Amino acid sequence: MKFFVDSADVAAIAELNDLGMVDGVTTNPSIILKSGRDIIEVTREICAIVSGPVSAEVVATKADDMIAEGRKLATIAPNIAVKVPLTWDGLRACKVLTGEGKMVNVTLCFSVNQALIAAKAGATFISPFIGRLDDINLDGMELIADIRQVYDNYGFDTQILAASIRSANHVSQCALVGADVMTAPPAVIKALASHALTDKGLEQFEKDWAKTGQKIL
Ligand code: E4P
Repeated sequence: MKFFVDSADVAAIAELNDLGMVDGVTTNPSIILKSGRDIIEVTREICAIVSGPVSAEVVATKADDMIAEGRKLATIAPNIAVKVPLTWDGLRACKVLTGEGKMVNVTLCFSVNQALIAAKAGATFISPFIGRLDDINLDGMELIADIRQVYDNYGFDTQILAASIRSANHVSQCALVGADVMTAPPAVIKALASHALTDKGLEQFEKDWAKTGQKIL
C-alpha cells in the first residue's frame, strides 16, 4: 500500500520523506488554509521534495472552470494530480483532464456508485472518505472493501486512495481490505510506530542493560 501525506506542512512532509514513508501528498482547500501559504508556492515546494503524485484541488464548481484551474495547477510540476469533486461537473473535468494525460484524483466519494462512475470517467485515483462516514455512524472501511470488490470485479485500474484517515487502526484496516493508497496526516503516520509493549519492553531492556555495567561504544 502506498503512503500519501495528507498535509501541506512542508517540514513534516520532508521529515517523513527522508524516512521513505512518502509515496505522494494530498491537499485540499482546508489544508491550504491551515498551512497559511499560497497554494501555488506551497505546492511547488512540496513537488520539489516528493516525486510521487501531489494532489492539488480545484475550487470552481463548473466543469469548464475546473478544467481551466486544473490546467493551471498542472503547470506547477509534472507530478501534480488534479483533484476534482465527485459531481457531474467534476467527472466531466476528470474525463477532459485525463484525456490530456494529467493525473486526476476524484475526491469527496461516499458511495460505491460514486466510485463506479469516477472509474468510468477515467479517474486515476478515487478518494473515499472513511472518517467522515464514521462520523455519521456509517462504516467507512466497509466502503473501501466494497469499492475494492467492484473494481476487481470489472478490472477498473482507478486506484483506491483511502482518505479522511483518523487513526493508526484505519491504516492497518485499509491495508487488510486492499486499498491501493492511504493518505493520512503526519501525526497518524508517526503513530504507526507506537505500541505500548514496545515502550514497556524497551524500558525493561534499558534497566537490565544498566545492571550489566557494560558499554557497546
Ligand atoms: C484527502 O484527500 C482528504 O481531503 C482528506 O483526507 C480529508 O480528511 P478529513 O475528513 O480528516 O478532513
